[in-house]
Amino acid sequence: MIAAIGAVASNDMLGLDNWLPWDIPEELAYFEQTVAGAALVVGRLTYESMDVVPVDTFVVTGNENYVVRPGCQRVDSVEAGLRQALATGKPVFVIGGASIYAAAWPYCQRFFLTRIGKPFAGDTRFPETIPLDRWTVVEDRQASYLERRSGEQVVCRFMQYAQPVVKTLPSA
Ligand SMILES: NC(=O)c1ccc[n+]([C@@H]2O[C@H](COP(=O)([O-])OP(=O)(O)OC[C@H]3O[C@@H](n4cnc5c(N)ncnc54)[C@H](OP(=O)(O)O)[C@@H]3O)[C@@H](O)[C@H]2O)c1
Repeated sequence: MIAAIGAVASNDMLGLDNWLPWDIPEELAYFEQTVAGAALVVGRLTYESMDVVPVDTFVVTGNENYVVRPGCQRVDSVEAGLRQALATGKPVFVIGGASIYAAAWPYCQRFFLTRIGKPFAGDTRFPETIPLDRWTVVEDRQASYLERRSGEQVVCRFMQYAQPVVKTLPSA
């Protein structure tokens, strides 16, 4: 199964200065638990922002000379990343950023999306081309956590969407 996972603020922001616009450890822990043991497909900028990158991470970049960390693979397209990630036999998660979600969503059966219940300043938006309003909500639970930069409580809605018609991945 191919799934995407991400989090978005109420004003559609998902990134700031190549990191997240918020500091909510419980939301980050949810991400880490959900993708544990999976093969990951990630854009080059998001990859560079990660301190720890698990094995079987496929880094999408147009730079054919780009050198990735041990256990990771460089791929030149989202489709190549998805094909190689599937070949590991593990569950596959697309973990962003925005450019990768925008290219990968047609191939995703599921989108795990945490909706952060406040607006945050950011420089990267969730792609408006992803038609989640036409996907089926298969999970929707919420919890309130402390956002550490503002010192305010924020409601996180852990949504899971299923795509009704999934595009077949083209062969290499
Ligand atoms: N809220 C969340 O859940 C979440 C999740 C992930 C990331 N983020 C945030 O999102 C922001 C980064 O998103 P982003 O969209 O700017 O960057 P990104 O998707 O992480 O990486 C963009 C890079 O990926 C490569 N790329 C993208 N599409 C490609 C294609 N079709 N073919 C070949 N290479 C391709 C290019 O690398 P080259 O320039 O090397 O060619 C491009 O510069 C950061 O702030 C990050 O923290 C948030």
